[in-house]
Amino acid sequence: MSENREQFSSRLGFILAAAGSAVGIGNLVGFPVNAAKNGGGAFLLIYAMFVIAICLPVMMAEFAMGRHTDKGPVGAFGALSNQQSGWRLAGLIGVITPFMIGVFYTVISVWILGYLYMAATGDLAYLASEAAFGEYINSPTLFLSMIGVAALIFAILKMGVQEGIEKASKILMPSLFFMLICLVIFVLTLDNAMAGIKFYIIPNFEKITASVVNGALSQAFFSLSLGMGILITYGSYLSKKTNIVSSAKMVALTDTSVAFIAGLMILPAIFSFNPDVNTSELSESSVSLIFVLLPKIFLALQASIGYFAASAVASLFFLLVFFAAITSLVSIIEVPVAYLIDEKKQSRKKALGTIGVFGGLLTVACALSFGMVAFLTEMLNYGGGTKSMFDLVYDLFYETILPLNGFFVCLFVSYRWKKHALNKELSVGNEGFEGSLMQRYVNFSLSTFIPIILLAIFLNTVATKFFAQPLF
Ligand code: PFF
Repeated sequence: MSENREQFSSRLGFILAAAGSAVGIGNLVGFPVNAAKNGGGAFLLIYAMFVIAICLPVMMAEFAMGRHTDKGPVGAFGALSNQQSGWRLAGLIGVITPFMIGVFYTVISVWILGYLYMAATGDLAYLASEAAFGEYINSPTLFLSMIGVAALIFAILKMGVQEGIEKASKILMPSLFFMLICLVIFVLTLDNAMAGIKFYIIPNFEKITASVVNGALSQAFFSLSLGMGILITYGSYLSKKTNIVSSAKMVALTDTSVAFIAGLMILPAIFSFNPDVNTSELSESSVSLIFVLLPKIFLALQASIGYFAASAVASLFFLLVFFAAITSLVSIIEVPVAYLIDEKKQSRKKALGTIGVFGGLLTVACALSFGMVAFLTEMLNYGGGTKSMFDLVYDLFYETILPLNGFFVCLFVSYRWKKHALNKELSVGNEGFEGSLMQRYVNFSLSTFIPIILLAIFLNTVATKFFAQPLF
């Protein structure tokens, strides 16, 4: 173990940081709409099953690889494979993926900060207008917000693991829980709230198709920040005293609970706004929900609670999403930063500068790809349409590559690092692990059906996204 590697100061700090990574925009808006559209309680059940049966073992494997080696993805795959180039390449993809996800996620966080500012300064009527979103994402004021997001991320990451990531999570995560609960309580008092809850929870098994099952697993996988190198990196800051198995369960439980509770906020809000809502018309995209539909709902609230209170509710909502986005962004940008520190021997400050320059340029390019620059807006043609640079980054890294990275992790820990070594690491801080049912399940699942399922999901997503030909 490297002597001066920083560690999380406590198990709670680690769990909050990992949960901070996991709880993101996907939980607060993506999950509720996905669940409501795709069978309500039936989707929730399938989702919960995937979290327990598939995602948890992968999460434990990622934490164990990081903690055992004290390294991020490139270092961990390298160290545990005698620096075999094929496995180092898998590690490298595990660093490029978060770097690129960080780029498009920054763009969305920048919009959220802009909307937060406008909601807090009383521009609700404008935000709810048809033209607002298109105008805002193409306006130069966007770049002020970008500077704000960049400065915040830089400030947190510059302070390092304990004083930066952990401290920020300890402030932002409890605030996030508090705001979420306040909003749920408020929304439940609205007319027609119960219709939304019923729609969200009552199972409709007829809606469950192969593509819904595929979607549930993809959603669970990225919601838990798997396949992004984040959990390997956070695992490398984990003390040997910490029980990985129980911590992973806590992280998964927190993430899933927040996603579920977010549904209790979003669905009643949608139904109170329009009691005849036909959820099949709801866009699955988190972006259109956050920036187009919800502002209209906030504005409509003014009839019952007044303009001032409606603006306050809107501001609280955008602050909630912003906090969720920041803790996720911090975790994902830490991966390439840690790579430069560990593998390229840069100081933390220099690594942040490097990522700031390259990531910053790509982020600006993505932000310009909504109309401001034609070449970036109409960059490529695939999957039956013209795609912008933002679309490309999103489709390639967020939608497609995560299950492939998860597939590599499963194969690696089962057949290269080997199960007995994984078990030894998972037993550190958890003496009862060897011989337990959990140990047998983790070993069996990671070496058999989980990689097969992840590979199938990857292939199906490639076929669907890039060739418009779903396999199932
Ligand atoms: N779990 C996060 C979410 O649901 O939004 C996934 C994530 C996305 C983590 C982007 C980190 C990140 F930068």
